[in-house]
Amino acid sequence: MKLAVVGGGSTYTPELIDGFARLRDTLPVSELVLIDPAADRLDLVGGLARRIFAKQGHPGRIVTTSDLDAGVEGADAVLLQLRVGGQAARQQDETWPLECGCVGQETTGAGGLAKALRTVPVVLDIAERVRRTNPDAWIIDFTNPVGIVTRALLQAGHKAVGLCNVAIGLQRKFAALLQVTPAEVHLDHVGLNHLTWELGVRLGGPQGDNVLPKLLAEHGDTIADDLRLPSQVLDRLGVVPSYYLRYFYAHDEVVREMGTKPSRAAEVAAMERELLAMYGDPALDEKPELLAKRGGAFYSEAAVDLTASLLGGERGGSKGPSGKGGGGRRAGGSPVQVVNTYNNGTLPFLADDAVIEVPARVDGRGAVPLPVPELDPLYAGLIAHVTAYEDLALEAALRGGRDRVFRALLAHPLVGQYAYADGLTDRLIEHNREHLAWA
Ligand code: G6P
Ligand code: MN
Repeated sequence: MKLAVVGGGSTYTPELIDGFARLRDTLPVSELVLIDPAADRLDLVGGLARRIFAKQGHPGRIVTTSDLDAGVEGADAVLLQLRVGGQAARQQDETWPLECGCVGQETTGAGGLAKALRTVPVVLDIAERVRRTNPDAWIIDFTNPVGIVTRALLQAGHKAVGLCNVAIGLQRKFAALLQVTPAEVHLDHVGLNHLTWELGVRLGGPQGDNVLPKLLAEHGDTIADDLRLPSQVLDRLGVVPSYYLRYFYAHDEVVREMGTKPSRAAEVAAMERELLAMYGDPALDEKPELLAKRGGAFYSEAAVDLTASLLGGERGGSKGPSGKGGGGRRAGGSPVQVVNTYNNGTLPFLADDAVIEVPARVDGRGAVPLPVPELDPLYAGLIAHVTAYEDLALEAALRGGRDRVFRALLAHPLVGQYAYADGLTDRLIEHNREHLAWA
């Protein structure tokens, strides 16, 4: 089985490699290609990746290249984890919205729109090149904003699934609190990428007992602390929102906070310098502790699980373009996983081609959402509102133009007023000109 990772020079890659090494029985990778335009980072990250495989006795070959077409050739699945404009662009996304009194965040609000506009054309170009060489390959997208990027891929007819680590992170957290294994915990997770709520926490599977009331009664304070929301909010809702809901439920408080401390991008940039220096040390042969300070915890496990289900498993996946399948062994991930995919009637108040983030049955044919019970308007309203924004954001990303950017911002529940939308539109274009073909 051959996998390719676009954005393979990311400082996150050792997390992925560590997952591939530990979980090789689930996902038997024989060749892993790390693709990145930044050759210097690729050298450092590739070196460490090989040492991690060697230390853990993984027989797979790790190849590094800056040539996308050569790198993806023959890949059974291509993982996208790129960041157009790097942390410098993220720093901008997190800063200029604050000048308009709006949240500065890399996926939520105006910063997230800027990221979508920079990213969608690049991802579509990559996917097109993958399709030309490997029409059967799966594209697994971690590239943010995952909801909008996945929708762009699906609309263009690609075999794509979007992935985020929020659900797997909560699954692990709840399992620890309940003192059960993560595999026993099923989340009734619903919403859009970075706009989700856990409506239930079930033991043993989708039909299991809902232990969320007990979890909130016994551990509500711990969970609320992690989300940085008052525990009374969780008690009143009776559900667990993702930490991205804080940008909505405590927007003004977050904006005030952001005005008084360095951006997350600045923190991450400092960590990245330190990480890259560590990666260059030939004695290092495992993922360093420092990587745990990044937000991507468990993303390698989610990626292994999803890739394994798409490339094999019980319900008959195809062997993929390398024709090697699992090299004699069959990959097999969990039958139900939280992914980003077409709504197709799951949330009846959204169009079929909206992209939602919910538990889905995943196998070689793709992802099919499990049914979701009727949603409280408290959640359905915000989901519908943000979906409308995502629609317009994708329009703006695909077709460009100041007016489309303005419409997307005006539609965003955290913007909404024309004066804010105008001010943000000007800043977005100004700060992203080099990445926007139309600007
Ligand atoms: C979580 C989100 C990702 C996001 C990351 C940011 O993992 O699910 O979508 O990219 O946090 O983490 P960072 O360390 O870059 O702030
Ligand atoms: Mn995410």
